[in-house]
Amino acid sequence: MNIIPLPNSYRNLPGFFFVTENITINYSQELKPTADMLCLFLEKTTGIKPKQSQYAMINLSLDFSLEYEQYQLFVDTLSIHLAARTNHGAFYGLQTLKQLLTLKDGRHRINCTFIDDRPRFSYRGFMLDVARHFFPKNEIFRLIDLISFHKFNVLHLHLTDDQGWRIESELYPRLTEIGSKRNRTSSRKRKTQDIPHQGFYTKQDLKEIVAYAKSRHIEVIPEIDMPGHMNALIAAYPQTSCLKKEIEVRGSFGISDITLCPGNMDVYQMLTEIIIEIIDIFESPYFHLGGDEVPKKHWKKCPLCQKMIKDNNLKGENGLATYFLNYFGELLKAHNKIPIIWNDGVDSDTAADTVIQHWKPFTRKKTVKEINHGRKAIISDFLYLYLDYPYSMTPLRKTYQFEPIDKNIRNKENILGVEAPLWTEWVPNQYKLDYQIFPRLAAVAEIAWTEKYNKSYEHFINRLDSFYDYYRRMRVNYAQGKEFPPNIIKRCFNVLLWLRDENNELQKKK
Ligand code: ACM
Ligand code: ZN
Repeated sequence: MNIIPLPNSYRNLPGFFFVTENITINYSQELKPTADMLCLFLEKTTGIKPKQSQYAMINLSLDFSLEYEQYQLFVDTLSIHLAARTNHGAFYGLQTLKQLLTLKDGRHRINCTFIDDRPRFSYRGFMLDVARHFFPKNEIFRLIDLISFHKFNVLHLHLTDDQGWRIESELYPRLTEIGSKRNRTSSRKRKTQDIPHQGFYTKQDLKEIVAYAKSRHIEVIPEIDMPGHMNALIAAYPQTSCLKKEIEVRGSFGISDITLCPGNMDVYQMLTEIIIEIIDIFESPYFHLGGDEVPKKHWKKCPLCQKMIKDNNLKGENGLATYFLNYFGELLKAHNKIPIIWNDGVDSDTAADTVIQHWKPFTRKKTVKEINHGRKAIISDFLYLYLDYPYSMTPLRKTYQFEPIDKNIRNKENILGVEAPLWTEWVPNQYKLDYQIFPRLAAVAEIAWTEKYNKSYEHFINRLDSFYDYYRRMRVNYAQGKEFPPNIIKRCFNVLLWLRDENNELQKKK
């Protein structure tokens, strides 16, 4: 069974279904979008377009006994039957069928099989940081096609950061006039280079992205990262930081100690207006507030921040950060959205219905406690699931073997699923983007979809060989096999670099 992610229940049967000129299709009207996609796929790949017929060889039918994302695919030598409760489930059956189609001796054929398949986790996410490097709308469309082929159902867009603001705002036009452009960009070889960079999505672009994703059963979760990682907004509106000093959109990476001032009510007002301006573009029930890596250095000396702490009887600067994020969490809930926050922005005073996105493995215990107390979680441990890490540090096997449910978790149902982020500090173009994502995303797909007891790395590696044909056909610049084995020296070196950066950040925070 050469399918990735591996179906959870299947039986290979003898023989093949051959795609021939007289091929016919019939479908329940509800499944028409998937049937149309299937016809288009067959026409593109084999040159043969199925004709509609009441007694057809290919049948797509509704089955209400199945779960929302489940499908059943039965292929014998004479017919193909795809059953699903929803178009969503049927779409996954189609992705499987695409992989089953092979070309042998000039004939397109499909292995006879019976598959009954549904995902392990309901949340299967990929995150793209479009702030450090901007990727235009068409590139997002291509990625949506690729991630849906891997049966992912969430695209999280990290839309704002110190290095760029990427969403149009009519109320605050300087966000894009100033905030979407930078004059310099760090390079690994030299500290910074005079490479300017810019770009943003219009509201219309975002609507098109949301619609395109929806047609492939992917929901788009926007992130406005606050109160740290906000230099682009502060460059546009300097009065929003504690120092109220003019700054540039950042050209270097790492954590900036300049943040929004959470003591200033004008900041609350402005961000409220921005969120309300864009919130309806997105149909996902979730909205990401960031909340990661917030240095509190300036808050300690800021009269407004200190007054806010005193007036509200908060637990120091950390309490102020929680107060700030809870404030926007309430705003989101008033608009029927569920807030998500990175795990370092969550503490015991964070509203109980805020979802935690866990990324720091060394604070796992704290996250497990939050989950055991009832908080819902998305798992993104960076040592395993961050796609920007070099393969020498995070080889394919390491990602594949990651188990998202910690053994100390008592209520597993609070784990919504997994998400693999791609931070793009060192990813300036599509070529590098593909290299970092693929085939590692195939390994993440199997973590998210395939039950633990069905997983085997050796089996996965064998299946990957035929998966590469798809990557080649889709012109994906995937990383080659030689990148997979861990290079121990490089790995140790990278860990040392990482520890040094963490330590520098800790010193800065103090
Ligand atoms: C993060 O990697 N700063 C969430
Ligand atoms: Zn302040």
